[in-house]
Amino acid sequence: MLNVVIFGAPGSGKGTQSELIIKEYGLDHISTGDVLRSEMKNETELGKIAKDYIEKGQLVPDELIVNMLAKVLDSKANSKGVIFDGFPRTIPQAEALKKMLNERGTDVSIMLNLQVDEDELIKRLLERGKVSGRSDDNLETIKSRLEVYHKQTAPLADFYVKEGKHVAIKGMGTIEEIFGRIKEAINAVK
Ligand code: AP5
Repeated sequence: MLNVVIFGAPGSGKGTQSELIIKEYGLDHISTGDVLRSEMKNETELGKIAKDYIEKGQLVPDELIVNMLAKVLDSKANSKGVIFDGFPRTIPQAEALKKMLNERGTDVSIMLNLQVDEDELIKRLLERGKVSGRSDDNLETIKSRLEVYHKQTAPLADFYVKEGKHVAIKGMGTIEEIFGRIKEAINAVK
């Protein structure tokens, strides 16, 4: 299986590049943000809990996310591989993912860490907020998402450096240019 973790700050292009990776390599896509937004839309118990965290730009507690992820992963049992978008975001989530994949006889193949300047991240998210209707794409919440990213999520890069899976990808430039860099990195481990 080809299992790709796509990692980076809010607005770094994880969702955009995931779509291209899926088409090129025939992978399944698991975006924890998309799953949570769908739970919110359907007003499930999880959705109601997640709403408070998401609107403040904070992380949803690990236990809820890991249980949710395990269920989604079970539905992809016959997959050629999975792209994990927005997960893991903390060390306990990374450890849980490793355990879940190992139990299924597989592991993370590569972690792509998209590097984008902070002013560009804010510009992209404010632009998207005009049309997306995402309740977390406003300046106040974007600032708190970025703070949470730096404090809680960015340190996770070291976990994958130690695993020998970390590849830094320059996330500035056109979508096609960035995808070219990603393909080069994936083809080297495939
Ligand atoms: P999530 O949905 O994962 O959001 P995020 O990490 O903040 O990332 P975004 O979706 O905003 O950005 P992206 O990197 O996917 O960029 P995109 O391709 O869209 O999470 C939302 C919330 O859910 C979290 O804050 C948290 O509360 C909760 N959550 C989710 N997962 C969790 C977890 N594992 N644990 C705990 N809580 C969790 O691009 C952004 C914009 O830029 C788009 O408009 C795009 O068109 C544009 N763009 C992309 N590439 C380029 C380019 N090269 N040039 C110009 N524009 C570009």
